[in-house]
Amino acid sequence: MSIIKYAAVIGGGVIGAGWVSRLIENGVDVAIYDPAEDAMEKVEAVLKNSRYAYGKLISAPRAKEGSISFKDSIAAAVPGAELIIESVPERLDIKQSVYAEIEQSADTDAIIASSTSGIMPSDLQAKMSNPERLLVAHPFNPVYLLPLVELVGGKSTSMDTINRAREIYTSVGMHPLHVKKEIEAFIADRLLEAIWRESLWLVKDGIATTQDVDDAVRFGFGLRYAQMGVFDTYRVAGGEAGMRHFMAQFGPCLKWPWTRLMDVPEFTDELVDLIAGQSDEQSGHMTIREMERIRDDNLIAILHGLKGNDWGAGQALGKYESHLLEAANDD
Ligand SMILES: NC(=O)c1ccc[n+]([C@@H]2O[C@H](COP(=O)([O-])OP(=O)(O)OC[C@H]3O[C@@H](n4cnc5c(N)ncnc54)[C@H](O)[C@@H]3O)[C@@H](O)[C@H]2O)c1
Repeated sequence: MSIIKYAAVIGGGVIGAGWVSRLIENGVDVAIYDPAEDAMEKVEAVLKNSRYAYGKLISAPRAKEGSISFKDSIAAAVPGAELIIESVPERLDIKQSVYAEIEQSADTDAIIASSTSGIMPSDLQAKMSNPERLLVAHPFNPVYLLPLVELVGGKSTSMDTINRAREIYTSVGMHPLHVKKEIEAFIADRLLEAIWRESLWLVKDGIATTQDVDDAVRFGFGLRYAQMGVFDTYRVAGGEAGMRHFMAQFGPCLKWPWTRLMDVPEFTDELVDLIAGQSDEQSGHMTIREMERIRDDNLIAILHGLKGNDWGAGQALGKYESHLLEAANDD
Protein backbone atom coordinates (compact mmCIF):
# COMPACT_ATOMS: atom_id res chain seq x y z
CA MET A 1 0.00 0.00 0.00
CA SER A 2 1.34 3.38 -0.97
CA ILE A 3 3.16 5.72 1.40
CA ILE A 4 1.75 8.67 -0.55
CA LYS A 5 -1.87 9.78 -0.74
CA TYR A 6 -2.11 12.02 -3.78
CA ALA A 7 -0.34 12.03 -7.16
CA ALA A 8 -0.70 13.76 -10.51
CA VAL A 9 -0.16 12.03 -13.85
CA ILE A 10 0.52 14.31 -16.81
CA GLY A 11 -0.10 12.43 -20.07
CA GLY A 12 -2.62 9.58 -19.97
CA GLY A 13 -1.44 7.40 -22.87
CA VAL A 14 -0.24 3.79 -22.64
CA ILE A 15 2.28 4.55 -19.90
CA GLY A 16 0.43 7.31 -18.04
CA ALA A 17 -2.66 5.11 -17.78
CA GLY A 18 -0.49 2.24 -16.56
CA TRP A 19 0.84 4.49 -13.78
CA VAL A 20 -2.71 5.54 -12.89
CA SER A 21 -3.65 1.84 -12.57
CA ARG A 22 -0.73 1.04 -10.28
CA LEU A 23 -1.31 4.11 -8.11
CA ILE A 24 -5.06 3.75 -7.57
CA GLU A 25 -4.61 0.02 -6.91
CA ASN A 26 -2.45 1.12 -3.97
CA GLY A 27 -4.97 3.60 -2.60
CA VAL A 28 -3.47 6.76 -4.12
CA ASP A 29 -5.89 9.45 -5.34
CA VAL A 30 -4.78 10.53 -8.82
CA ALA A 31 -5.37 13.67 -10.88
CA ILE A 32 -4.81 13.27 -14.62
CA TYR A 33 -4.18 15.88 -17.25
CA ASP A 34 -4.12 14.94 -20.95
CA PRO A 35 -5.34 17.32 -23.67
CA ALA A 36 -6.50 14.52 -26.02
CA GLU A 37 -10.28 14.32 -26.47
CA ASP A 38 -10.35 10.55 -26.04
CA ALA A 39 -7.97 10.54 -23.05
CA MET A 40 -10.62 9.40 -20.57
CA GLU A 41 -11.72 6.48 -22.79
CA LYS A 42 -8.12 5.36 -23.26
CA VAL A 43 -7.39 5.46 -19.53
CA GLU A 44 -10.61 3.54 -18.81
CA ALA A 45 -9.61 0.83 -21.30
CA VAL A 46 -6.28 0.32 -19.51
CA LEU A 47 -8.03 0.34 -16.11
CA LYS A 48 -10.35 -2.41 -17.32
CA ASN A 49 -7.33 -4.59 -18.03
CA SER A 50 -5.49 -3.67 -14.84
CA ARG A 51 -8.46 -4.32 -12.54
CA TYR A 52 -8.87 -7.74 -14.14
CA ALA A 53 -5.14 -8.42 -13.83
CA TYR A 54 -4.83 -7.37 -10.18
CA GLY A 55 -7.89 -9.47 -9.32
CA LYS A 56 -6.05 -12.52 -10.67
CA LEU A 57 -2.55 -11.60 -9.50
CA ILE A 58 -2.91 -10.54 -5.89
CA SER A 59 -3.73 -13.04 -3.16
CA ALA A 60 -3.71 -10.62 -0.21
CA PRO A 61 -6.25 -8.02 0.96
CA ARG A 62 -6.01 -5.20 -1.58
CA ALA A 63 -6.09 -1.51 -0.70
CA LYS A 64 -9.27 0.49 -1.15
CA GLU A 65 -8.94 1.84 -4.68
CA GLY A 66 -7.84 5.48 -4.94
CA SER A 67 -9.97 7.99 -6.84
CA ILE A 68 -9.37 9.41 -10.32
CA SER A 69 -10.12 12.94 -11.46
CA PHE A 70 -9.52 14.34 -14.94
CA LYS A 71 -8.35 17.97 -14.85
CA ASP A 72 -8.35 20.50 -17.65
CA SER A 73 -4.87 21.88 -17.02
CA ILE A 74 -1.56 21.07 -15.39
CA ALA A 75 -2.20 23.95 -12.99
CA ALA A 76 -5.37 22.21 -11.80
CA ALA A 77 -3.77 18.77 -11.50
CA VAL A 78 -0.53 19.26 -9.60
CA PRO A 79 -1.24 21.31 -6.41
CA GLY A 80 -1.01 19.05 -3.37
CA ALA A 81 0.51 16.13 -5.30
CA GLU A 82 3.44 14.42 -3.56
CA LEU A 83 4.48 12.72 -6.79
CA ILE A 84 4.01 14.17 -10.28
CA ILE A 85 4.52 11.68 -13.08
CA GLU A 86 5.21 13.02 -16.56
CA SER A 87 4.30 10.58 -19.35
CA VAL A 88 3.95 12.87 -22.37
CA PRO A 89 5.42 12.08 -25.85
CA GLU A 90 9.14 11.41 -26.11
CA ARG A 91 10.25 14.91 -27.13
CA LEU A 92 12.56 17.06 -25.04
CA ASP A 93 10.84 20.35 -25.94
CA ILE A 94 7.37 19.06 -24.95
CA LYS A 95 8.67 17.61 -21.70
CA GLN A 96 10.56 20.79 -20.76
CA SER A 97 7.50 22.98 -21.37
CA VAL A 98 5.43 20.60 -19.22
CA TYR A 99 7.97 20.96 -16.35
CA ALA A 100 7.82 24.76 -16.65
CA GLU A 101 4.05 24.59 -16.15
CA ILE A 102 4.35 22.04 -13.35
CA GLU A 103 6.85 24.21 -11.45
CA GLN A 104 4.43 27.13 -11.44
CA SER A 105 1.78 25.22 -9.45
CA ALA A 106 3.44 22.23 -7.75
CA ASP A 107 4.21 21.99 -4.04
CA THR A 108 7.89 22.74 -3.42
CA ASP A 109 8.61 19.27 -2.02
CA ALA A 110 6.81 17.35 -4.80
CA ILE A 111 8.90 14.84 -6.74
CA ILE A 112 8.70 15.15 -10.51
CA ALA A 113 9.31 11.82 -12.25
CA SER A 114 9.70 11.43 -16.00
CA SER A 115 8.75 8.17 -17.72
CA THR A 116 11.14 8.88 -20.62
CA SER A 117 12.55 5.78 -22.31
CA GLY A 118 15.94 7.30 -22.97
CA ILE A 119 16.37 11.08 -22.63
CA MET A 120 19.08 12.09 -20.13
CA PRO A 121 17.63 13.54 -16.92
CA SER A 122 20.25 16.36 -17.04
CA ASP A 123 18.71 17.48 -20.33
CA LEU A 124 15.18 17.18 -18.95
CA GLN A 125 15.97 19.33 -15.89
CA ALA A 126 18.22 21.86 -17.69
CA LYS A 127 15.66 24.69 -17.66
CA MET A 128 14.02 24.03 -14.31
CA SER A 129 14.20 26.39 -11.34
CA ASN A 130 14.22 23.48 -8.83
CA PRO A 131 15.94 20.75 -10.83
CA GLU A 132 16.96 18.75 -7.73
CA ARG A 133 13.46 17.25 -7.52
CA LEU A 134 13.37 15.79 -11.03
CA LEU A 135 14.42 12.24 -11.79
CA VAL A 136 13.69 9.65 -14.44
CA ALA A 137 11.54 6.76 -13.23
CA HIS A 138 11.45 4.55 -16.32
CA PRO A 139 8.74 1.87 -16.19
CA PHE A 140 7.93 -1.05 -18.48
CA ASN A 141 4.70 -1.83 -20.26
CA PRO A 142 2.33 -2.96 -18.75
CA VAL A 143 3.25 -0.68 -15.85
CA TYR A 144 0.56 -2.25 -13.66
CA LEU A 145 2.17 -5.71 -13.85
CA LEU A 146 5.92 -5.36 -14.40
CA PRO A 147 7.72 -4.39 -11.19
CA LEU A 148 10.90 -2.87 -12.66
CA VAL A 149 11.35 0.90 -12.56
CA GLU A 150 14.76 2.35 -13.46
CA LEU A 151 15.59 5.42 -11.36
CA VAL A 152 18.04 7.81 -13.00
CA GLY A 153 19.23 11.10 -11.56
CA GLY A 154 20.65 13.97 -13.58
CA LYS A 155 23.50 16.30 -12.62
CA SER A 156 21.19 18.33 -10.35
CA THR A 157 18.99 15.57 -8.90
CA SER A 158 19.38 15.30 -5.11
CA MET A 159 20.00 11.99 -3.37
CA ASP A 160 16.95 12.81 -1.24
CA THR A 161 14.81 12.73 -4.37
CA ILE A 162 16.24 9.35 -5.40
CA ASN A 163 15.78 7.88 -1.92
CA ARG A 164 12.24 9.19 -1.52
CA ALA A 165 11.33 7.90 -5.00
CA ARG A 166 12.78 4.50 -4.11
CA GLU A 167 10.52 4.31 -1.05
CA ILE A 168 7.43 5.40 -2.96
CA TYR A 169 7.88 2.92 -5.83
CA THR A 170 8.65 0.07 -3.44
CA SER A 171 5.44 0.83 -1.54
CA VAL A 172 3.40 0.33 -4.72
CA GLY A 173 4.93 -3.10 -5.35
CA MET A 174 7.76 -2.15 -7.70
CA HIS A 175 11.45 -3.00 -7.87
CA PRO A 176 13.36 0.29 -8.19
CA LEU A 177 16.76 -0.07 -9.84
CA HIS A 178 19.03 2.93 -9.36
CA VAL A 179 21.14 3.46 -12.51
CA LYS A 180 24.55 4.44 -11.18
CA LYS A 181 25.54 6.82 -13.96
CA GLU A 182 23.40 8.81 -16.32
CA ILE A 183 23.37 7.37 -19.86
CA GLU A 184 20.91 7.61 -22.78
CA ALA A 185 18.38 4.74 -22.78
CA PHE A 186 19.55 3.56 -19.33
CA ILE A 187 20.02 -0.21 -18.85
CA ALA A 188 17.08 -2.25 -20.11
CA ASP A 189 16.42 -0.31 -23.31
CA ARG A 190 20.10 -0.62 -24.26
CA LEU A 191 19.74 -4.39 -24.07
CA LEU A 192 16.41 -4.34 -25.89
CA GLU A 193 17.85 -2.12 -28.62
CA ALA A 194 20.51 -4.74 -29.33
CA ILE A 195 17.91 -7.49 -29.76
CA TRP A 196 15.62 -5.25 -31.82
CA ARG A 197 18.41 -4.28 -34.24
CA GLU A 198 19.56 -7.84 -34.72
CA SER A 199 15.96 -9.02 -35.20
CA LEU A 200 15.39 -6.46 -37.97
CA TRP A 201 18.49 -7.70 -39.81
CA LEU A 202 17.43 -11.34 -39.50
CA VAL A 203 14.06 -10.57 -41.14
CA LYS A 204 15.49 -8.16 -43.72
CA ASP A 205 18.12 -10.69 -44.80
CA GLY A 206 15.45 -13.39 -45.20
CA ILE A 207 17.00 -15.61 -42.51
CA ALA A 208 13.89 -15.64 -40.34
CA THR A 209 10.29 -14.40 -40.32
CA THR A 210 8.93 -12.25 -37.50
CA GLN A 211 7.31 -15.45 -36.17
CA ASP A 212 10.67 -17.30 -36.23
CA VAL A 213 12.38 -14.52 -34.28
CA ASP A 214 9.61 -14.48 -31.68
CA ASP A 215 9.73 -18.28 -31.38
CA ALA A 216 13.52 -18.19 -30.93
CA VAL A 217 12.96 -15.99 -27.88
CA ARG A 218 9.83 -17.44 -26.31
CA PHE A 219 10.63 -21.16 -26.63
CA GLY A 220 14.18 -20.71 -25.37
CA PHE A 221 16.31 -17.99 -23.88
CA GLY A 222 13.36 -15.70 -23.06
CA LEU A 223 12.36 -18.19 -20.37
CA ARG A 224 15.87 -18.10 -18.93
CA TYR A 225 16.02 -14.31 -19.00
CA ALA A 226 12.76 -13.97 -17.06
CA GLN A 227 14.24 -15.71 -14.07
CA MET A 228 18.05 -15.32 -14.11
CA GLY A 229 18.85 -12.49 -16.48
CA VAL A 230 22.13 -12.44 -18.41
CA PHE A 231 25.05 -13.04 -16.06
CA ASP A 232 23.64 -15.72 -13.77
CA THR A 233 22.37 -17.61 -16.82
CA TYR A 234 25.91 -17.69 -18.25
CA ARG A 235 27.43 -18.49 -14.87
CA VAL A 236 25.32 -21.63 -14.74
CA ALA A 237 26.17 -22.38 -18.38
CA GLY A 238 29.86 -22.35 -17.41
CA GLY A 239 29.20 -25.37 -15.17
CA GLU A 240 31.20 -26.02 -12.01
CA ALA A 241 34.08 -23.94 -13.35
CA GLY A 242 31.68 -20.98 -13.39
CA MET A 243 32.03 -17.57 -14.91
CA ARG A 244 35.77 -17.62 -15.63
CA HIS A 245 35.41 -20.82 -17.61
CA PHE A 246 32.40 -19.48 -19.48
CA MET A 247 34.25 -16.34 -20.47
CA ALA A 248 37.33 -18.24 -21.59
CA GLN A 249 35.18 -20.57 -23.69
CA PHE A 250 32.88 -18.09 -25.38
CA GLY A 251 34.83 -14.84 -25.13
CA PRO A 252 36.77 -15.29 -28.39
CA CYS A 253 33.60 -15.77 -30.47
CA LEU A 254 32.55 -12.21 -29.69
CA LYS A 255 35.17 -11.25 -32.27
CA TRP A 256 33.72 -13.55 -34.90
CA PRO A 257 31.12 -12.09 -37.27
CA TRP A 258 28.22 -13.38 -35.18
CA THR A 259 26.42 -10.07 -35.04
CA ARG A 260 25.45 -7.09 -37.15
CA LEU A 261 24.94 -4.93 -34.10
CA MET A 262 27.10 -2.10 -35.30
CA ASP A 263 24.99 -1.55 -38.45
CA VAL A 264 21.51 -0.09 -38.54
CA PRO A 265 19.22 -1.38 -41.29
CA GLU A 266 17.82 1.44 -43.41
CA PHE A 267 14.11 1.93 -42.71
CA THR A 268 13.00 1.79 -46.36
CA ASP A 269 9.30 1.34 -47.27
CA GLU A 270 10.27 -2.16 -48.40
CA LEU A 271 11.61 -3.09 -44.96
CA VAL A 272 8.62 -1.60 -43.15
CA ASP A 273 6.23 -3.47 -45.51
CA LEU A 274 8.13 -6.70 -44.99
CA ILE A 275 8.08 -6.51 -41.20
CA ALA A 276 4.52 -5.15 -40.89
CA GLY A 277 3.22 -7.69 -43.45
CA GLN A 278 4.77 -10.63 -41.64
CA SER A 279 3.54 -9.31 -38.31
CA ASP A 280 -0.02 -9.05 -39.70
CA GLU A 281 0.20 -12.62 -40.97
CA GLN A 282 1.53 -13.78 -37.60
CA SER A 283 -0.95 -12.06 -35.28
CA GLY A 284 -3.42 -10.03 -37.36
CA HIS A 285 -6.24 -12.45 -36.43
CA MET A 286 -6.20 -11.04 -32.86
CA THR A 287 -7.13 -7.55 -31.73
CA ILE A 288 -4.62 -5.60 -29.65
CA ARG A 289 -7.02 -5.84 -26.67
CA GLU A 290 -7.08 -9.64 -27.04
CA MET A 291 -3.29 -9.71 -27.23
CA GLU A 292 -3.04 -7.53 -24.11
CA ARG A 293 -5.21 -9.99 -22.17
CA ILE A 294 -3.13 -12.94 -23.35
CA ARG A 295 0.06 -11.06 -22.43
CA ASP A 296 -1.31 -10.19 -18.97
CA ASP A 297 -2.57 -13.72 -18.26
CA ASN A 298 0.84 -15.13 -19.21
CA LEU A 299 2.71 -12.54 -17.13
CA ILE A 300 0.49 -13.34 -14.14
CA ALA A 301 1.19 -17.07 -14.55
CA ILE A 302 4.94 -16.40 -14.72
CA LEU A 303 4.83 -14.09 -11.69
CA HIS A 304 2.87 -16.69 -9.72
CA GLY A 305 5.42 -19.36 -10.69
CA LEU A 306 8.33 -17.17 -9.61
CA LYS A 307 6.55 -16.25 -6.37
CA GLY A 308 6.26 -19.94 -5.53
CA ASN A 309 10.05 -20.15 -5.84
CA ASP A 310 10.59 -16.86 -3.96
CA TRP A 311 12.65 -15.66 -6.89
CA GLY A 312 13.17 -12.49 -8.95
CA ALA A 313 10.03 -10.58 -9.88
CA GLY A 314 8.00 -13.20 -7.95
CA GLN A 315 9.97 -12.34 -4.81
CA ALA A 316 8.95 -8.67 -5.25
CA LEU A 317 5.32 -9.80 -5.55
CA GLY A 318 5.59 -11.95 -2.41
CA LYS A 319 7.06 -9.06 -0.39
CA TYR A 320 4.35 -6.73 -1.65
CA GLU A 321 1.63 -9.16 -0.61
CA SER A 322 3.21 -9.49 2.85
CA HIS A 323 3.01 -5.70 3.22
CA LEU A 324 -0.64 -5.77 2.16
CA LEU A 325 -1.35 -8.45 4.77
CA GLU A 326 0.44 -6.46 7.49
CA ALA A 327 -1.51 -3.33 6.55
CA ALA A 328 -4.81 -5.27 6.65
CA ASN A 329 -3.94 -6.73 10.09
CA ASP A 330 -3.08 -3.25 11.40
CA ASP A 331 -6.50 -1.91 10.40
N1 LIG B 1 5.20 2.75 -24.65
C1 LIG B 1 6.15 2.18 -23.94
O1 LIG B 1 6.36 0.96 -23.99
C2 LIG B 1 6.99 3.02 -23.01
C3 LIG B 1 7.71 2.35 -21.98
C4 LIG B 1 8.41 3.11 -21.06
C5 LIG B 1 8.44 4.50 -21.17
N2 LIG B 1 7.76 5.12 -22.19
C6 LIG B 1 7.81 6.60 -22.23
O2 LIG B 1 6.61 7.11 -21.65
C7 LIG B 1 6.28 8.36 -22.27
C8 LIG B 1 4.85 8.28 -22.81
O3 LIG B 1 4.81 7.26 -23.79
P1 LIG B 1 3.45 6.52 -24.20
O4 LIG B 1 3.85 5.26 -24.87
O5 LIG B 1 2.50 6.48 -23.07
O6 LIG B 1 2.91 7.54 -25.31
P2 LIG B 1 1.38 7.80 -25.77
O7 LIG B 1 1.48 8.45 -27.10
O8 LIG B 1 0.58 6.55 -25.61
O9 LIG B 1 0.85 8.85 -24.68
C9 LIG B 1 1.26 10.18 -24.60
C10 LIG B 1 0.09 10.98 -24.09
O10 LIG B 1 0.52 12.30 -23.79
C11 LIG B 1 -0.52 13.19 -24.14
N3 LIG B 1 0.04 14.53 -24.28
C12 LIG B 1 0.60 15.12 -25.37
N4 LIG B 1 1.02 16.36 -25.05
C13 LIG B 1 0.72 16.56 -23.74
C14 LIG B 1 0.89 17.65 -22.84
N5 LIG B 1 1.46 18.78 -23.22
N6 LIG B 1 0.45 17.51 -21.56
C15 LIG B 1 -0.15 16.37 -21.15
N7 LIG B 1 -0.34 15.30 -21.96
C16 LIG B 1 0.11 15.41 -23.24
C17 LIG B 1 -1.10 12.61 -25.42
O11 LIG B 1 -2.43 13.08 -25.65
C18 LIG B 1 -1.06 11.12 -25.12
O12 LIG B 1 -2.25 10.63 -24.54
C19 LIG B 1 7.35 8.62 -23.32
O13 LIG B 1 8.35 9.43 -22.78
C20 LIG B 1 7.88 7.22 -23.61
O14 LIG B 1 9.21 7.24 -24.10
C21 LIG B 1 7.02 4.41 -23.10
